[in-house]
Amino acid sequence: MKMETLQISIFLLACSLSACWTLPSIRKNENDLESEARDYLAEIDRLTSQKCYESTVAEWDYATDINTQNEKAKLKMSLELAKLTKEIWTNVTITFKERQDFKDPDLLRKLKKIRVLGSAALPDDEYKKYAQLETSMTKHYSTTKVCPFETREACIYSLEPDLTKIMRESRYEGALRHFWTQWHDKSGGPIKKSYKQFIEISNQAAKLNNFNDMGELWLTAYESETIKDDVEQLWQTLKPLYQNIHAYVRAKLRNVYGDQFSDDGLIPAHLLGNMWAQSWENIYSLMVPYPKKSSIDVTQEMIKQGYTPLKMFQVADEFFTSMGLIPMPNEFWKQSLIEKPKNREVVCHASAWDFCNGKDFRIKQCTRVTTKDLVIVHHEMGHIQYQLQYKHQPYIYREGANPGFHEAVGDTIALSVITPKHLRKIGLLDKTVPIDDHETSINFLFAMALEKIAFLPFSYLIDKYRWDIFDGTVDESQYNTHWWKLRKEYQGIKPPSVRTEEHFDAGAKFHIPANVEYLRYFVSTVIQFQFHRSLCTEASQYSPEDPAKPLHNCDIYGSKVAGAKLADGLSMGSSRKWPEIMKVMTGQEKMDASAIREYFKPLEDWLTSVNEKMRETPGWN
Ligand SMILES: *[C@@H]1O[C@H](CO)[C@@H](O)[C@H](O)[C@H]1NC(C)=O
Repeated sequence: MKMETLQISIFLLACSLSACWTLPSIRKNENDLESEARDYLAEIDRLTSQKCYESTVAEWDYATDINTQNEKAKLKMSLELAKLTKEIWTNVTITFKERQDFKDPDLLRKLKKIRVLGSAALPDDEYKKYAQLETSMTKHYSTTKVCPFETREACIYSLEPDLTKIMRESRYEGALRHFWTQWHDKSGGPIKKSYKQFIEISNQAAKLNNFNDMGELWLTAYESETIKDDVEQLWQTLKPLYQNIHAYVRAKLRNVYGDQFSDDGLIPAHLLGNMWAQSWENIYSLMVPYPKKSSIDVTQEMIKQGYTPLKMFQVADEFFTSMGLIPMPNEFWKQSLIEKPKNREVVCHASAWDFCNGKDFRIKQCTRVTTKDLVIVHHEMGHIQYQLQYKHQPYIYREGANPGFHEAVGDTIALSVITPKHLRKIGLLDKTVPIDDHETSINFLFAMALEKIAFLPFSYLIDKYRWDIFDGTVDESQYNTHWWKLRKEYQGIKPPSVRTEEHFDAGAKFHIPANVEYLRYFVSTVIQFQFHRSLCTEASQYSPEDPAKPLHNCDIYGSKVAGAKLADGLSMGSSRKWPEIMKVMTGQEKMDASAIREYFKPLEDWLTSVNEKMRETPGWN
């Protein structure tokens, strides 16, 4: 019976595709059915790639020239793509419902992936409402303006560049508190109601995809039953390191802003150099471990040497090719946008683009000549390298092994680029500056920790918070209370002004209104150190037994064996479950915090003893 249903529905499907086939007179065996399914998938692969190309072109045109006409064109194309994927989803869902008797694991995997459609599964009017809510929340976020501090001037301060710069550079507590509070009040609060509606519609969509709630749907990308426990476990392993940095930073900040601290051990969230206290590298200068030793900011040197955005991209490309990886194609150099144009509005947020045709790959970045942007160039080029590596895969597999993988590739490369050793190699650090001594290493590792370790609890709690909302553990009456409960528990920070349920402080972070899954960044931070450790070992640049080759000073530049190993994993796209791909790349099948701990080991030892000397006990109440 099952067999028959399958056969007929495949017939219907085939019928819909091109000219109608005649009903097969002989009952086909399983292999024939499977091969028909394969043919169908090949056909939709072509259709989707084509539609994806058209919609990406429209999106690019908009992002690199914001005007109403381009906005309309972009919207039209993205609706067409959504319509096509929904049609495929419907057809596949109906046709291959009982597909358990298919033998080909690859076929089963593709069908399984197609079956997770996400929000596009909603009925048209509900989908429209969903898209409108997301657009209006994001627009509110992007256009929020706040008032100046202690003057009566107009309220025209925007997040980028004004508030970001103030949070980064100002050391005046009153101003920091003012702008922190203004931003949170004005960006988050007003969208609280919309967000509640958005959660409800999201969950409807999840149910249409056969999930209990949207949090569960997000987590399927990680293809593991135990993913929630696994990340909690990773966090527990990393917590002592985080608490050590937290304690040191707290002690140093207390010297600067003493009256802001009480004995609860929490750090006020507005003092960490960043609106969300998500990474703390901007307050490095307040607490350099060894002020007389050099630090790895080569911005001045880059400017002195006449670096341009193009030169930065060439330097990055050269790193990838030195490892035998794929060079950026001609189309990339011709069509990328790497400087902010003067004559038109563009979306400046850096991004990497795959045009789904196997030819066009581009980066859009308003590049500035700074050390930080040099790292971002490598991050974005890592995305392109991944896309180039898996371009031969079918459309459905042209994505990261899991969402964290895609973010981790460029960061892995950047871990080598940013080493004093490499910066010296490319002439950005003076040969006379000593770089191998312990004190310089501590300065370097401390700066890295303010960026990477400080980010860990934040990147974890953003989705932990949303899982609790999606699954109903927390309702609207607790939205803000729960947010601060997690902020306190995981990050050890507290708000600098009174917060109530009138406020919606989670909404003051872009990825909440814009609805971007966030666990990927936590996962990326953990696995990039696993990748780094494995590639460094492969390149003979790291050995746990050799004190002259510490993990934090490893540079995989020029290593063809490391490059080959990386390429082996990347070229698989998502055609296998990520543990299998991770095994190819690292020999490990699990995410594992030991690489990160190893990398930061010298710093952790140093922090432990310095905190003891300062009588600063890690942790908080
Ligand atoms: C899906 O099925 C419908 C009805 O049989 C058909 O009209 C449509 O062309 C099919 N679409 C795709 C993309 O296979």
